[in-house]
Amino acid sequence: MHIAVMPGDGIGPEVIEEALKVLRALEPAGLRLQTTFADVGGIAVDRHGDPLPPQTLELARASDAILFGAVGGPRYDTAPRAQRPEQGLLRLRKELGLFANLRPARIFPGLGAASALKPEVIDGLDILIIRELTGDIYFGQPRGIRTLPSGEREGYDTMRYSESEIRRIARVGFESARVRGRRLCSVDKANVLETTQLWREVVTETARDYPDVALTHMYVDNAAMQLVRDPRQFDVIVTGNMFGDILSDEASALTGSIGMLPSASLDSNHKGLYEPIHGSAPDIAGKGIANPLATILSAAMLLRFSLRAEAHAQRIERAVEHVLLAGLRTADLARGGETPVSTSAMGDAVVHALAAGA
Ligand code: IPM
Ligand code: MG
Repeated sequence: MHIAVMPGDGIGPEVIEEALKVLRALEPAGLRLQTTFADVGGIAVDRHGDPLPPQTLELARASDAILFGAVGGPRYDTAPRAQRPEQGLLRLRKELGLFANLRPARIFPGLGAASALKPEVIDGLDILIIRELTGDIYFGQPRGIRTLPSGEREGYDTMRYSESEIRRIARVGFESARVRGRRLCSVDKANVLETTQLWREVVTETARDYPDVALTHMYVDNAAMQLVRDPRQFDVIVTGNMFGDILSDEASALTGSIGMLPSASLDSNHKGLYEPIHGSAPDIAGKGIANPLATILSAAMLLRFSLRAEAHAQRIERAVEHVLLAGLRTADLARGGETPVSTSAMGDAVVHALAAGA
């Protein structure tokens, strides 16, 4: 199996290093991976003048899966849009057809206290957000900033979804709900936006093929509120690109730290890009204090979805639970009285737990 490794910017390289450590620790148990590194994001702009250089895209196409760190940094925020690190990620998603973004949000044992919500609201929380990733206002044309006849400037973007785009992500939602709690909540803004009125219609049609899954619909503003009011009412949420971007950050905060949450972005053929849902965190980059667990758990998702190595994936997840139960905390998770461990100490602890057969 061939994995393209794209550490990117900020804390990306630090957390990727720990995830690779953990993958290598599975070699004695029979895992065989070939890894090749490539530049993406700000570092690719610096080195090649392009956030997604042709050789990086080529490697991504030729690989079975991509392990991705994070992109972006304040240095690039004023660059022309095509030269911004985020374009490296957005273009990768689009070029590879990675339309299905799976973002699980669950409470890990022992971490309930790190959540801003009361334990009785979040105990046992386990939600899967499925975000459409290659359509919507993120990619819709036309878009731009133009000057009106009055001389005033106007910014505009276009929200669009075709029926086939909605149907294929709805199917991922139903299929995922089927192997979990059999409840799917489709989130839209059908009371205001035509695009999402069609979304609701197509999801409802698709439901006919999944009589064993209970489908509900919710407006996005209400969903944002329900996520903090009573998040355990949700099993699987399926939504568009922009609503999913926002709701998945919100859901991550429920679990205590955005530093815990992995993600998978899949095409229709099990190929995927796996990344922590947190960003490049330039404020803490290079300090060795970032939480590597979201990236380590992303590596577990890579094993599960692209390599079909479920047993290895579960071994990593158990090892992560083990180190958390043992009380290890990076700075983002540490509460009063707890001494935080470094990025590499957390990675080493997961490796030890794996070796000990946690
Ligand atoms: C995410 C990020 C990206 C997005 C950015 C970095 C382009 O926020 O993966 O959620 O908006 O999709
Ligand atoms: Mg986001």
